[in-house]
Amino acid sequence: MSLPPEPQPVDVPSRSLTPQQVTAFYDAHRTVRQYVTGPDGAPLPLPQGHLEAILHAAQRAPTDATAQLYSLVRLTRPELRARIAELTTNAHIATASEAFVVCADVRRVRRVLEVGGKTPGHWPAIAVHFGIGDAVMAGTNLLTAAEMLGYQGCWIGGVMNGLGGIIDELGLPAGVLPFAALTVGRPAEQAPYRPRVPRPLVIHTDTYHSGSDEEIREAIEVMNPIASRGGQPGDWVRLLNSYFGAGGGMEGREPKLVAALRRQGLWAGEEGVEARRP
Ligand SMILES: Cc1cc2nc3c(=O)[nH]c(=O)nc-3n(C[C@H](O)[C@H](O)[C@H](O)COP(=O)(O)O)c2cc1C
Repeated sequence: MSLPPEPQPVDVPSRSLTPQQVTAFYDAHRTVRQYVTGPDGAPLPLPQGHLEAILHAAQRAPTDATAQLYSLVRLTRPELRARIAELTTNAHIATASEAFVVCADVRRVRRVLEVGGKTPGHWPAIAVHFGIGDAVMAGTNLLTAAEMLGYQGCWIGGVMNGLGGIIDELGLPAGVLPFAALTVGRPAEQAPYRPRVPRPLVIHTDTYHSGSDEEIREAIEVMNPIASRGGQPGDWVRLLNSYFGAGGGMEGREPKLVAALRRQGLWAGEEGVEARRP
């Protein structure tokens, strides 16, 4: 078997971007949920070179322990797109130029060990920790590369709404867990610039800073516009409460995630640990 050719030096611009250019690039980021489609409403394909570049960017992400503990499932068949859109309750999966399900994946590294004549260890909590980390890094690279090419996209945590069905539809084996879907396309909406929590509550210097009630109230004021709908003033606490409050959406997702972790052999709870004891 011949070795792959040595990588050639890349013609990278010698001049770095300025801090202002970097800031402007990230300020141009918008989550976009409506995309330009073909005349028949079908997804507008990315030029092959653009698709190649964003997939390359995903695979150039750094990775824990050299292992690349993630997989992306690219959704191409219209019926599958429609089904995943339904399962995630995010219709734009059907219309985006590209749509992926981004997964933590520890199956492949186990296969490498097995094929190499070794015995894979038992580390389900580590699998979730580093698998999700690697998946996020690859997906973030992909989205950032797409934004460099003039596209916008949307992460879709809505996979949590239909985890079992998605695992079935994509034929995901043990060791593979969907984290989120990710869509990319040409924007067909003017998405607003959405605020972020003030920096002192997020970027800590040397010691963690919990924030006073006053600082938290100020953060709520800053964030309220992100919850604005139909020209009405936004209420961020109400939005967060619908997700994370008692009786909110995340409590509904919790048992589905636990069931999927068990099904995919990634459950590290008490029973998982007990099951291993001789
Ligand atoms: C992990 C993750 C999951 C998300 N899930 C959804 C989703 O299911 N549906 C959706 O429309 N947007 C989703 N979003 C997009 C967020 O709502 C969006 O990033 C946030 O409101 C900030 O807006 P911006 O990205 O335009 O600054 C998700 C984003 C992330 C990072």
